[in-house]
Amino acid sequence: MSDHHLVAVNVNGKDYRCTVEARLLLSDFLRHELNLTGTHVGCEHGVCGACTVLFDGQPVRSCLMFAVQADGHEIMTVEGLGTPEKLHPIQEAFWEAHGAQCGFCTPGILMTLVPFLESNPDPDEEEIRHAISGNLCRCTGYQHIVDSVKLAAEKMRT
Ligand code: FES
Ligand code: FES
Repeated sequence: MSDHHLVAVNVNGKDYRCTVEARLLLSDFLRHELNLTGTHVGCEHGVCGACTVLFDGQPVRSCLMFAVQADGHEIMTVEGLGTPEKLHPIQEAFWEAHGAQCGFCTPGILMTLVPFLESNPDPDEEEIRHAISGNLCRCTGYQHIVDSVKLAAEKMRT
């Protein structure tokens, strides 16, 4: 069918080849076709940041992209970050410094932080707040998130 396309994409180190509708959003592809439900969908129009994933290493809002745009690219979702047995240092820090309450915003924030902390290993509070300014959290008031990012940076430096 003409509105279906083959997508070859690497997600969290694994290769997938799927035929998808041209209109399928990348966020829905990840959640419904690949069952990677760690990527959350809040606003569905690019405001909340809950759907943030890494696209060739850069954070993108997966609700603003079509799955077909991922053809030939590498995606990382929160499932690729760590495992319950071996958390990524950023996840460890959020756990220890209470950076998550309901957790709805957390996957998007974590994925935003991965490239941020790689490029800025010792950020100050203003830089941290700027980095997460595109990720909305309804629960934490942000202070615990900022504290978690400081702890994550410390862990990643050592
Ligand atoms: S669900 Fe994508 S930015 Fe809100
Ligand atoms: S922890 Fe609930 S929205 Fe952020």
